[in-house]
Amino acid sequence: MTNAIEVKSLSKKFGDFVAVNNISFEVKKGEIFAFLGPNGAGKTTTIKMLTTLLHPTTGKIFVNGYNPVINQNQVRKSFGIVFQDPSLDDELTAYENMEFHGVLYGLSKNLMTTRIEELLRIVDLWDRKDSLVKTFSGGMRRRLEIARGLLHHPKVFFLDEPSLGLDPQTRSHLWEYVKNLNKKEGITVFFTTHYMEEAEKIAERICVIDHGKIVAKGTVNELKKQTKTKTLEEAFLSLTGHEIREEEFTNQDHMRMMRRMWRGGGKH
Ligand SMILES: Nc1ncnc2c1ncn2[C@@H]1O[C@H](COP(=O)(O)OP(=O)(O)OP(=O)(O)O)[C@@H](O)[C@H]1O
Ligand SMILES: [Mg+2]
Repeated sequence: MTNAIEVKSLSKKFGDFVAVNNISFEVKKGEIFAFLGPNGAGKTTTIKMLTTLLHPTTGKIFVNGYNPVINQNQVRKSFGIVFQDPSLDDELTAYENMEFHGVLYGLSKNLMTTRIEELLRIVDLWDRKDSLVKTFSGGMRRRLEIARGLLHHPKVFFLDEPSLGLDPQTRSHLWEYVKNLNKKEGITVFFTTHYMEEAEKIAERICVIDHGKIVAKGTVNELKKQTKTKTLEEAFLSLTGHEIREEEFTNQDHMRMMRRMWRGGGKH
């Protein structure tokens, strides 16, 4: 199988409201792929369906060859995730946050010790491993969430608006780490953003999503060609009829997923 993610005719309704409307796309193994879209476009809802947090209303999903509706536990072990909202335990140290995650994923003590050090060094937090997370800056927290998401050697890494609220310099550092990991570990990266330049610089392919629908997909050059425009910004405007809007914090999903893993359930 050459695709890490396959999505066919996927929809999600909340009551009568269609949040995700019949979308189809594939993400190749080892690819860096982005969902670009404004507030309320359906990005988080899609990630939730891909990561077992929501059941689709209709459609098919395969992540690493598993169907998240049927093979919940296998699929959960095969991906890592950084949620849109902060999801660390402030009262634990960086190291303890990592350990807690490792225990939930059933990693052996030996494996965990080596991997935690390796990852904390990659994200430049090894020197701060014994500091409480409540003393960390926004950028440090994000870096720790990235390290934590990779602890169990996932094949696919989901990042939902990972650079939200970070200054441009911290944002560019964060992407250096992610790109490095993509190269070093061959990990597939699926991220969402509403930053044009982030999608343009980081992603190999982009899906433009608006009002629950994929309005275009392809490389930046393909999107410009399709719309006969010169910049991604112009292409976006031409595809959606509007400019992208500012972002806000919304969900609190991490604890929910951890609770479900803990209980071994997955009701939606
Ligand atoms: N549990 C829910 N019940 C009802 N409506 C919901 C629910 N979750 C999401 N929605 C609605 O579905 C739409 C898509 O939401 P979603 O969070 O997927 O958007 P998004 O693209 O991630 O937006 P943002 O950029 O703000 O994070 C929104 O209109 C939202 O209000
Ligand atoms: Mg979202």
